[in-house]
Formats: sequence, C-alpha cells, structure tokens
Amino acid sequence: MNLPEIHEFLGCPTPAAWVTAALADQETLLIDHKNNEFKAASTAMALMAKYSTHLDLINFMSRLAREELVHHEQVLRIMKRRRIDLIPVSASRYASGLRKLVRSHEPQKLADTLVVGAFIEARSCERFEALVPHLDEELGKFYGGLLKSESRHYQGYLKLAYQYGETQDVDRTIQKVRAAERELIESTDVEFRFHSGVPA
Ligand SMILES: [Fe+2]
Ligand SMILES: [Fe+2]
Repeated sequence: MNLPEIHEFLGCPTPAAWVTAALADQETLLIDHKNNEFKAASTAMALMAKYSTHLDLINFMSRLAREELVHHEQVLRIMKRRRIDLIPVSASRYASGLRKLVRSHEPQKLADTLVVGAFIEARSCERFEALVPHLDEELGKFYGGLLKSESRHYQGYLKLAYQYGETQDVDRTIQKVRAAERELIESTDVEFRFHSGVPA
C-alpha cells in the first residue's frame, strides 16, 4: 500500500506564529516534548496490554515503546546540559481533543486509535521539520534525526489502522480526524505546547 506523504496527510501546515512562539520558549518546548516522548511510550505499552492477541500490533508497539523511551532519555540529557529544571507542565488540549473522536466499540475503537496515533506522529514530524532550520546546532541535529523516526512511526500506525480496520471506514476516519486536527492546530490556544494551536 502506498501511504500518503506527511504533508498531504495533514490538513494544514504548522502556523508560522507557533514556530515563533516555540523559538521564544524553548524550555517549555523541551519539557513538553520530553513528556510527549514518555506518553508515546506508555500509550504503546497500554495498546500492547489491551490488544494482547494482535501479533503485528504487539511487535510494532514493543519496538515503538523502546524507541520513544530512548527519545525521552535523549531529551532529558539535553535538558540537563542546558540546566532546564524538571518543572511540571500540563498536557496540551491536542491529544485529548483527538481522542474524543475515537469510537467506543470494537473493532472501530482500535482502528480509530491507530489513526489518531498516525496523526500525532505525522504532526510531530512536521513540527520538528518546521523547527530544524531555526535551531542551534545541537538541537537542530537532534530534531533532524527525530523527524525521521516520527515519519516511520506515522507509517507504522497507519498501516496497522488499515490492517485492523475496514478500508473505507479507515478512510472516512482519516477525513474526520484530519478536520479536527486542523482545527486544533489552526485555532488559538492560550497555552504554548509542542502540539498547541496558534498562540493567543
Ligand atoms: Fe519519539
Ligand atoms: Fe514517535
């Protein structure tokens, strides 16, 4: 199957105002990014536990969880080098906003969850890409490497969505999630986060 390229999969590019806000508050960017890597790993492990008879899902999620934990450690290392304190940063509205679209019954629930995962990974990839040209050498190199992993994660999630879901239903879900994701990215958001909308 030919998966759409990330920029055509996403309903809109990251607004320039978000990039400006991110560059102005790199401490919050890094802390929230670190939290997201942890959440990516823990979501992968929760899916392994919940869908314990889905072999391909388990294989993908197990590798994903390990990889996301490595990213988590890498962000921690950069934070330590930059003397950024581990202060609590609340989660953005983004992931919870997308998860509201997940239907409550199986097998749609699993396919929807995987589509949402594909969007989160795709947007992360696109945001790293938007940031890279503006960052210092260390962070630019790190984010340049991460965007390649996020692109793989996006593909893995989407392949599994089509594997466990029904093609036309998954296509419809993608359209629905794409519109909601675009709204979360393009509407104003009072809190700056890695996945926040346009800074208010
Ligand atoms: Fe990651
Ligand atoms: Fe990822």
